[in-house]
Amino acid sequence: MCGIVAYVGSRNAQPILLDALSRLEYRGYDSAGLAILNGHGVEVRKKSGRIENLAKACQAKPISGSMGISHTRWATHGAPTDSNAHPHLDASGKLALVHNGVIENFLELKEKLSKAGHTFQSDTDTEVLAHCLGDAYAKSQAKGEARLLEAVRQTFNQIHGTMGIAVIHSDLPGLVVGARRGSPLVIGVGQGENFLASDTQALAPYTNRVVILKDLEIVALHADRFDVSSPLGSNTQIKVEEIENGMIHSDKGSHPHFMLKEIMEQPRSIENAFRGRLDRDGGTTKLGGLNMSADQLRQIQRISVLGCGTALHSGMVGKYLIEDLAKIPVETQHASEFRYGDSPVSRHTLFLAVSQSGETADTLGALREAQRRGYPCLGICNNVASSIARESDGGVYMHAGPEIGVAATKSFTSQVMVFALLGLLLGRHHQLSANHGAELLDAIVQLPEKIRQTLKHSDSVARVAKTYAHSRSMLFLGRLANFPIALEGALKMKEITYLHAEGYPSAELKHGVIAMIDKETPTVLIATQDGVYDKNLGSLQEIKARGGPVIAVAEEGDSKIQGLADAVLQVPKTHELLQPILNVIPLQLFSYHTAVALGRDVDKPRNLAKSVTVE
Ligand code: AGP
Repeated sequence: MCGIVAYVGSRNAQPILLDALSRLEYRGYDSAGLAILNGHGVEVRKKSGRIENLAKACQAKPISGSMGISHTRWATHGAPTDSNAHPHLDASGKLALVHNGVIENFLELKEKLSKAGHTFQSDTDTEVLAHCLGDAYAKSQAKGEARLLEAVRQTFNQIHGTMGIAVIHSDLPGLVVGARRGSPLVIGVGQGENFLASDTQALAPYTNRVVILKDLEIVALHADRFDVSSPLGSNTQIKVEEIENGMIHSDKGSHPHFMLKEIMEQPRSIENAFRGRLDRDGGTTKLGGLNMSADQLRQIQRISVLGCGTALHSGMVGKYLIEDLAKIPVETQHASEFRYGDSPVSRHTLFLAVSQSGETADTLGALREAQRRGYPCLGICNNVASSIARESDGGVYMHAGPEIGVAATKSFTSQVMVFALLGLLLGRHHQLSANHGAELLDAIVQLPEKIRQTLKHSDSVARVAKTYAHSRSMLFLGRLANFPIALEGALKMKEITYLHAEGYPSAELKHGVIAMIDKETPTVLIATQDGVYDKNLGSLQEIKARGGPVIAVAEEGDSKIQGLADAVLQVPKTHELLQPILNVIPLQLFSYHTAVALGRDVDKPRNLAKSVTVE
């Protein structure tokens, strides 16, 4: 996790580092720090809390210098305190390091260093890494730049774990060394200045020319040049890419929070997901990035979806879509579990790695594991320059635009839309008729308007949210394709309101969960008019019979539900396969308005980060 930025050039480094860092806050926001070479040595400022705390400390006592490193943290080892914030120094105090990743053998290394007389100021694995680097630097016979590069190479061999690092040394003004193993790192190529960052978004106002470092590469960065080398020291070929959407920097517009803005953007983000991809005549879709021939598509006998959190929930909806449209069995797996599990995978299985950021460590690790076993792997990503997008054999972009709020909203509906498009394509290569395909295509085209209609109910959802905001616990129930919607509703509620919430298939109620029902525990029941509508009404009655309040997600004009439920969150009717896309929207709004009513930090909930780039 965490975000790092480094700068070397002729401008004052401090404002550049602070500004670029603020664009990486989605990677973690529990503390931040920077180190700058001030002409005499390394000067460090670091503060617990948001980057604005660091900015205030820097304003109060600015550091002058034209090269430095910076970091925004999501704590793994050690509490989010000032002393655990990065940068960390080595024993000499001359070398400063920022690190994104986890050093798994840090305790072992720390013990060894402690025996050799090293003392530590923090509880972090990163400080141990800084001391290892400093130790290797002190022992090296090499001179100048080569000495620091050798220290980095030697340390690479000592550590187990992941790292994206930037290092400076007060004896080497004008040089920043960067290296990556497992964690992403990009070079931003400027004119008379260069940058390093965890992703291209950090560099948006400064340059759109980037070099995406490959795993295990090391870079020696100067203001006027940079050299990239392999762990063995040989120079490697670099490719400078010009990126487009790295320049996009989102703002909230007229909305009080990014989350609300992103919920409201869904008519457009859904349209962007299907634009140019529908083939009405063929009753199918065109997905150019799959890199698979028609024959290869026909040979798929099983699909395995890998993802985490919201992305996995979208895959669970995707399972219903693909199984219905293409009659191909689909299993969904937590990426983190697949990675280390032994479950056998049948031949002719296609893997789909789903990730908004494309940088989630568990999903990336699972993708690599599936590739190692020789299976074809496609990525469903939003971030085009991401690791998953680059490392998969092909894929489909969501085109949802930047999602800044930690709670995923528009990316979820776009992911489900991508599954619908993929299901249609696979269906048409298997058994789906053109007529059935065309029916779904018509419904897809009408969906943005229906989403607009759903969003108009935001104020009434807010009123319901206010009524139930002080509940201790909530249940979310749904069946079949709406079961993952219940899971998603509960996840949104937990992550931004901190209320206890659980999602279940409605019929599971009577197998234990019903014991939780009392008049203080509201149940959100997804009960649109599908094949299990009557069964859902049965569950509703069971809850009411035990005095539990019911908030139903139901179709506009459903008077039956209106007579039974305590509150109704209304959605328009659409094709049954697309209904989950509409059903999740009132749940996004419900958690959003509940969080606002409780005064929570909606876009940056506690303990979380937008991208989980550590295991
Ligand atoms: C969703 O609201 C969460 N913030 C989280 O579950 C997220 O979906 C998960 O970490 C996966 O992220 P990704 O889509 O970027 O891989």
